[in-house]
Amino acid sequence: MIELEHVSFSYADQGPSVQDVTFRLEKGEFAAILGANGAGKTTTVRLMDGLLKPTSGRVLIHGADTAKSSVSERAARVGFLFQNPDRQICKNTVREEVLFGLRTVRGQDGEEALQERADAVLKEFSFTGEEEPFSLSRGQRQRVALASILAVEPEILILDEPTTGLDYLECCQIMDRIRRMNEERQVTVIMVCHDMEVVLDYARRALVMAGGRLLADGPVPEIFRDTDLMERASILPPQMIALGLRLGAGFERADSPEKMAETVLSLRGKEAAR
Ligand SMILES: Nc1ncnc2c1ncn2[C@@H]1O[C@H](COP(=O)(O)OP(=O)(O)O)[C@@H](O)[C@H]1O
Ligand SMILES: [Mg+2]
Repeated sequence: MIELEHVSFSYADQGPSVQDVTFRLEKGEFAAILGANGAGKTTTVRLMDGLLKPTSGRVLIHGADTAKSSVSERAARVGFLFQNPDRQICKNTVREEVLFGLRTVRGQDGEEALQERADAVLKEFSFTGEEEPFSLSRGQRQRVALASILAVEPEILILDEPTTGLDYLECCQIMDRIRRMNEERQVTVIMVCHDMEVVLDYARRALVMAGGRLLADGPVPEIFRDTDLMERASILPPQMIALGLRLGAGFERADSPEKMAETVLSLRGKEAAR
């Protein structure tokens, strides 16, 4: 779905913010980009949706070079959820907001189809449509932004810190919705996320960045268990991973409360049998 080939990027008058990054995302993947502040995560996702063009190297979306494709071609395929929903929301009602995105990308479908699509999305997100975005809470506004992106059914969803400023319940609602898109419709998801517990719960693949470079790329639990890598990237792994590593003796692979409990219970069973 997306391919980066030796991509480097420098902002004007600066050294490179992204350096020689190469990876590809297949359809249906759920990947997270991890790294400290300034590691180059946001720059990388902006290169991935063509908002920025590489200084050198190539970015391909569905095989098309972003240096040559148009904004509208990309908008039909790629949905981008910003960290701050207020940078996306521009209409006075939730319905108008959802319709705005639809008209931009699916205008050729005709007004009736767009209204139907908007109705379905509003219902799904439990909005009447008459709400005024700016009188809603931050979490609700994030849901408005997500609803208008999902309305156009993108094939690729890019999220830059989607859970910042949300409470735990709001965070789960947003992330569960994104997971459903990923599982049911094979939408390719890439998210920048500073909450490692969320990464462990939802992402399957982790790309670790530091100083503009890609340090590692692999399955989420394995990446978190690499203590040396975590240190180099200044990342604190999720508590469940840290606890498992600390306990050792079969607990290293217990990366969820369920597996932790299973491991304890199986040890207890062995004790009892003995
Ligand atoms: N708009 C910009 N103009 C100039 N430099 C920028 C801009 N955005 C980011 N940078 C610089 O690029 C580097 C990577 O930033 P960024 O991609 O935002 O990292 P992250 O999202 O991992 O925190 C940092 O050194 C940052 O100062
Ligand atoms: Mg960032």
